[in-house]
Amino acid sequence: MRVRGEQAAPVRYGGGRREPQEVRRGHVVGQTTDVPEGGGAVFSHSKLVVTQPEKGEYKAFSAACTHGGCTVQEVEDELIRCLCHGSEFDYVSGDPVAGPAKDPLESFTVSIDGTDIILD
Ligand code: FES
Repeated sequence: MRVRGEQAAPVRYGGGRREPQEVRRGHVVGQTTDVPEGGGAVFSHSKLVVTQPEKGEYKAFSAACTHGGCTVQEVEDELIRCLCHGSEFDYVSGDPVAGPAKDPLESFTVSIDGTDIILD
C-alpha cells in the first residue's frame, strides 16, 4: 500500500540508454571553445543549443524542437536545424523560419566564466 505523499519509483530506461540531463540553472552547459563565432553548437546532454552570432555574444535555446520534440541536430548558415521534419530556426532569435514548427525555441540566458558557459 502506498502511503499518501509517497513518490512513485523513478522510471528506469533499459538497454543502457542514457537519458539527457535536465537543463539546470547555475550549471555549466558547455564550453565556448565549442561554439564558433557566426555559428553554434548543440549540447544534447544539457538539452541546449548555444550560438555566437557576434564575437562574445552568446544565445542559448532549448534544443527541443517545438514541432515534435526532436533534439535539434545542427547549426549552420545562421540557422538551427531539426532534421526530423526539416524545421529551421533563426540562430539569433530562435524564431521558426522554415518547416512545420510554428513556435520559437525556448530561449535562456547564459553567462561566461573563462570558457565555461553557465545557464543563468
Ligand atoms: S520534430 Fe523537429 S521538425 Fe518535426
